Amino acid sequence: MSEKNTFYITTPIYYPSGNPHIGHCYTTLACDVVSRLKRMQGFDVMFLTGTDEHGQKIEDKAAEAGVSPKEYVDEIVENFKKLWSRLGITYDRFVRTTDDYHVKTVQNIFEKLYKDGYIYKGNYQGKYCTPCESFWTDSQLVDGKCPDCGREVVDASEEAYFFKMSEFGPRLEKLITDGQLEFLEPKSRINEMVNNFIKPGLQDLCVSRTTFKWGIPVTFDNKHIVYVWLDALTNYISAMGYMNDTYDDMPKYWPADVHVMAKEIVRFHSLIWPSILMALGVELPKKIYGHGWITFGGGKMSKSSGNVVDPFILTDRYGVDALRYDLLREMPFGSDCPYTNEMMLNRINSDLANDLGNLVSRTVAMVIKYFDGTLIEGREASSADDEFIGMVNSLPDKVTSDFETLHISDGLESIFKVIARANKYIDENAPWVLAKDDSKKERLATVLYNLLDTIRRCAILLSPVMPHTCPKIYEQIGAGEECTTWAAASVEGGLNSNVTVAKGEVLFPRLDIEKELAELATLNSNNAEEAPSEDTNEEEALLPFKDTCVFDDFEKIDIRAVKVISCEAVKKSNKLLCLQVNDGFGTRQVLSGIAQYYTPEQMVGKTVAMIVNLAPRKMCGLESCGMILSVKDGNKYRVVEFGDDIKAGADLS
Ligand code: MSP
Repeated sequence: MSEKNTFYITTPIYYPSGNPHIGHCYTTLACDVVSRLKRMQGFDVMFLTGTDEHGQKIEDKAAEAGVSPKEYVDEIVENFKKLWSRLGITYDRFVRTTDDYHVKTVQNIFEKLYKDGYIYKGNYQGKYCTPCESFWTDSQLVDGKCPDCGREVVDASEEAYFFKMSEFGPRLEKLITDGQLEFLEPKSRINEMVNNFIKPGLQDLCVSRTTFKWGIPVTFDNKHIVYVWLDALTNYISAMGYMNDTYDDMPKYWPADVHVMAKEIVRFHSLIWPSILMALGVELPKKIYGHGWITFGGGKMSKSSGNVVDPFILTDRYGVDALRYDLLREMPFGSDCPYTNEMMLNRINSDLANDLGNLVSRTVAMVIKYFDGTLIEGREASSADDEFIGMVNSLPDKVTSDFETLHISDGLESIFKVIARANKYIDENAPWVLAKDDSKKERLATVLYNLLDTIRRCAILLSPVMPHTCPKIYEQIGAGEECTTWAAASVEGGLNSNVTVAKGEVLFPRLDIEKELAELATLNSNNAEEAPSEDTNEEEALLPFKDTCVFDDFEKIDIRAVKVISCEAVKKSNKLLCLQVNDGFGTRQVLSGIAQYYTPEQMVGKTVAMIVNLAPRKMCGLESCGMILSVKDGNKYRVVEFGDDIKAGADLS
């Protein structure tokens, strides 16, 4: 029997309650990298993404906007598609939970589970967290509050249908803890699932609601609509044609090879989803992978806090591949990753402009200078090359396995180590010295060939991450299709021995970071009105807590009470206020993105909390020395303030 040569990978289906933002990009990019790699390896890939369009939240937002829920989501779904197209995402299918075939599948599944006794009608009475849409038992509450988000829970009772999740505890525990299956990655998420959810006893899951209309009706009791996770999770099989006539791809692609998502929805994928499939008698997906969060300025990205990062602006200015590379390189396996424009610009300069760009342009320029662009065939090997070539030879297997297991950042790090080594190889061999001596012509050709061939191999390995740049590199180094397949990355000396190179455009121009930061601040604030935002999405869960930090980390941040002496609007921005504050030692200037919430007059005289040792930065041409702290809850936004009796400079601990 031949081995299965299909590969099925999914992103979560995103809520089109607000426009997509850079936070949504990571999962989709990671899936795109794996899909591209698998296609290059010869797999028949199914890469599925889509949107999760039902629910009260959307119903409310559409009503606010005076349009139907469908009209409301149609527009936002287009924006998701535009972003994916801009980022070069090669999804194969886009599922919308409003698609007829999906509706059919959900209704059929609901009927089947009801007939088979896995869904029953009851009354829910329990502690319910409205924002998280979750029930909890008393023992699961933390200090009487929702263990997920820490908010108040309410006693709730309503006629509803339930799915018998409680039956599946032992099977789920076996599935998740079976070391051989490696069902859930990273492993750090396993204990959380077992200890917090399975061990305390799984509750039956509420799978219908009667309090709003925007959803899929239960066919045999249509005052009920199918509720959230049963509707959403089913997308992974409805889009393959399970219980509908639109597609017939279950035999080909199911079980999925991997469902990728961020950590806050791992619970739903590793507990609810397998139980639904077990109840249906459908094979389980092979892997659930829950990565960390991209965090912004210490918290969730929001229009009001001035940390909006618009992927369209970034890709316009720096190119799609720079953003793809940066996000994929920065996110460490399994943990959170802060995003700042400054980090991204530094990454572009150091890795892409200096290391990769320079290596390519220097090497090509030397082949042109010393060989008129076409290498001679003669070679003179040296044992001094062994260590370098050995390092390149071990790279393809490592990168393949890193990318396949979603350790994308690790794979990229390894590639850039080789690129740095190649730059060093140039300096060690000093081609400009070899070029002066005619008897060293063959040695010179060998050194340059080794460099070109290494560039070729690195570019192949980089191509799933930088699909637009690598073909430009192939062109410059004269690498044809036959030597740029994935398999060819493992072939030492795959490039023609008498290769002809071609001078090309600069791949990544070096950026003036200060200038770019100021420019981005202006662009982002001008754009903030239309900027994507998830900050009014009250149904969405709160940001999960960040990774544990030690007291020393906290100690580095100096937070003081400061008094606002004067305040004015910043001309070039509709978001920023410029404040002069007394910090206890003197006066300093700070900018704050609070113009939509406070007038300058309201700020004068306030005593507010401020980080006083944050490195100064420029926004809209003005220097900001510190950051005023504030809190955000849905549409409510407040600076953290104290009474008049607290003196300027008093420190917070
Ligand atoms: N609709 C549900 C998922 C149903 S899947 C059957 C949902 N949608 S969501 O729009 O809130 O998307 C959440 C997902 O978006 C995360 O799991 C992650 O994949 C991605 N991200 C959104 N913001 C993110 C960050 N700031 N950082 C990393 N990924 C994040 O939950």
